[in-house]
Amino acid sequence: MEAVQMRSITKWFGSLCALDHVDFSVREGEIHSLLGENGAGKSTLMNVLYGMLPCDEGEVLIHGKPAQIRHPSQAIELGIGMVHQHFMLTPVMTVTENVIVGGEPVNGPFVDYRSAVRQVQEMIDRYHFGIDANTKVQNLSVGEQQRVEILKALYRGANILILDEPTAVLTPQEVQELFAVLRDLKAAGKSIIIITHKLKETAAIADRVSVLRSGKMIDSGLEASRCSVNDLALMMVGRKVDLTFTRRSQCVGQVAFEVQNLNLAVKGVPVLKNLSLKVRKGQILGIAGIEGNGQTELIEVLTGLRRPDSAVILKDGKPFSGNASDFLTAGVGHIPEDRLSRGLVTPMSIEDNVILGYHRRPRFAGKGIRRSADIRAFADEKLAEFQIKAETVQTPCSALSGGNQQKVIVARVFSEDPDILIAAQPTRGVDVGAQEFIHNRLLDLRDEGKAIVLISADLDEVRRLSDRVAVIYDGRIVAENDHDVWDEMELGLLMTGGKGGVTA
Ligand SMILES: Nc1ncnc2c1ncn2[C@@H]1O[C@H](COP(=O)(O)OP(=O)(O)OP(=O)(O)O)[C@@H](O)[C@H]1O
Ligand SMILES: [Mg+2]
Repeated sequence: MEAVQMRSITKWFGSLCALDHVDFSVREGEIHSLLGENGAGKSTLMNVLYGMLPCDEGEVLIHGKPAQIRHPSQAIELGIGMVHQHFMLTPVMTVTENVIVGGEPVNGPFVDYRSAVRQVQEMIDRYHFGIDANTKVQNLSVGEQQRVEILKALYRGANILILDEPTAVLTPQEVQELFAVLRDLKAAGKSIIIITHKLKETAAIADRVSVLRSGKMIDSGLEASRCSVNDLALMMVGRKVDLTFTRRSQCVGQVAFEVQNLNLAVKGVPVLKNLSLKVRKGQILGIAGIEGNGQTELIEVLTGLRRPDSAVILKDGKPFSGNASDFLTAGVGHIPEDRLSRGLVTPMSIEDNVILGYHRRPRFAGKGIRRSADIRAFADEKLAEFQIKAETVQTPCSALSGGNQQKVIVARVFSEDPDILIAAQPTRGVDVGAQEFIHNRLLDLRDEGKAIVLISADLDEVRRLSDRVAVIYDGRIVAENDHDVWDEMELGLLMTGGKGGVTA
């Protein structure tokens, strides 16, 4: 039996056809992976299903019955749940409180908290979620918080669960745990739709696969077991993507950037503790770590966005300090980890964002006057080079898909040809074709003798690109080594504070 049938769904944004007569169906009790390049229409299709966006044409059937879904509350009533990439939990409340908001069991005028805890704990145990219903959400890891989001959907009776890029922020161990949870849910008869750009994951978890390309359904309901990762990449991109990776030889030079004894406390709590690191010309230093171990603050210090309590920063062997604009001027480029809060001004156009921070350069402004034609030509060039999917360079960044927003930032930073690059999650949310492109550009920079610090939650990425790997845990670098010393699981263990690493 089909849990979801979407028929001939069409969605226009102005003159852009984001979904063109798309048919998509999901069976009861299956895990269905929805694939596609950045801007292909995946999130749009799921937003239509969840009632967040109206479609212009088409119909939706849930468990065989025609459904009018105009608002998420109607989707929830029909048993559809959606877990967004940005969690919407309240950190100071407990798991139970977060799960039951909006649907509290009542005892007279009072919320019956005790029976709520019992119900929630029962669900946690049934699906082997391994958390305590009474813990405050702020004490949970990212992976555990995600399970709370899933619980919330289940508590509201979801039997169709949509996950939009759920693994982007997880460690390999957490991904395994999430997949175990999804398999339990499937065994309980639930239908799961999962969007991911990590094709290995699709191959590992999905029963069937559907592929969108430029708003059209290219292949629908293929058996996942019959598709290799290479097949999937080919279907998505429409050309062969080289997923194998040959390591280029490396020629390292002088130390280009160095931080010694970095200490930083935020609101009185030490976040970075006597941290030291250095990166040489022609080298990529990868920093592996679970989110929340000081990476954010480290990136801020390395790019001049935050002043440390104490530290010595040396650029080309000389002491260096200043604010963010001084760092940029000195040739320290920055791909920020959070594209929405630090990377882009989303209401502004692509052309304004692609020169953001550099708009006073003579090439873009003469005697204080904006060189509009030059800016437009530059932005057009970048749009083509980075294959940013947008109607024109005047399109606001808010109208771009997640992966295309990321490409705008990367285009800006690479165009400046920095000597030192602080690259945080450079490929988060971008499709395989763009991952390949960005990885090659990072390696080109390295080969030109630039120094790169790569901070990424994607261990595949860290291990493939880095020449040296450092592990950050609890505000310290707890281990550092050449790139090929630790395998993925060993690295994962070091990242959780496990021992066994040798620093060489
Ligand atoms: N609110 C909007 N206004 C205008 N255009 C939009 C809007 N939302 C999405 N689009 C456009 O619709 C197309 C599909 O976007 P969508 O977000 O569904 O892509 P996606 O497949 O989820 O991509 P990604 O992998 O990058 O997340 C894109 O070209 C995007 O620019
Ligand atoms: Mg999307």
